[in-house]
Amino acid sequence: MKAYLLIALRLIHVFASALWVGAVFVYLFFVKPTVRSIGLVGPKFMQNLTTRTRYPMFMVTVSLLTVLAGAVLYLNTSGGFNTAWLSSGPWIGFTVGSLAGLAAFFVGNFGIGPTAGAMGALGQKIAKAGGPPSPEDLSMLRRLEKKLDQAETIDFVLVSIAMLTMATARYWVF
Ligand code: HEM
Repeated sequence: MKAYLLIALRLIHVFASALWVGAVFVYLFFVKPTVRSIGLVGPKFMQNLTTRTRYPMFMVTVSLLTVLAGAVLYLNTSGGFNTAWLSSGPWIGFTVGSLAGLAAFFVGNFGIGPTAGAMGALGQKIAKAGGPPSPEDLSMLRRLEKKLDQAETIDFVLVSIAMLTMATARYWVF
């Protein structure tokens, strides 16, 4: 692969993944606890964040760019799955990281995204109806909340594994 192409792909991959992992950390450790601590304004804030800003599109874009550039880099670095490379320490590291990153991509885009969307839609329905939510809506909201919590924790673990292995794999010499 030409050097300029490799540099461009690495820039895209590292920059997008830094934004992706950074956003996951900031959301989980700062935004989410704040949303939970401010009562009724919390869900409204989340609704605005997910419907009035480009935050969901941002997450889809940075995770997709990471995975696409990563896949091309993987193919290139492995020399088209060269057997010597496949049995090396760095290969194990990059492969574990790639699998964790791919899994995080799917959990984020097909687990967290749609669940947060469903919660937002239900929240809007409850707000429109006025008064307290019905017992059915309330139990549905709790179920969605639990599912979202689980998906967010799994996503956090996966991006952390991807980041730790990717950042060090090159030096896994054993
Ligand atoms: C959250 C997800 C990810 C993060 C934080 C991440 C981060 C990084 C970082 C910091 C590097 C540079 C390491 C170095 O130069 O020593 C790197 C390299 C690499 N990443 Fe990822 N990555 C992620 C996901 C992926 C995925 C999903 C794939 C494959 C599908 C992938 C494939 C690669 C490959 C093959 C390299 C080595 C590139 C080379 O030097 O030729 N990464 N990654």
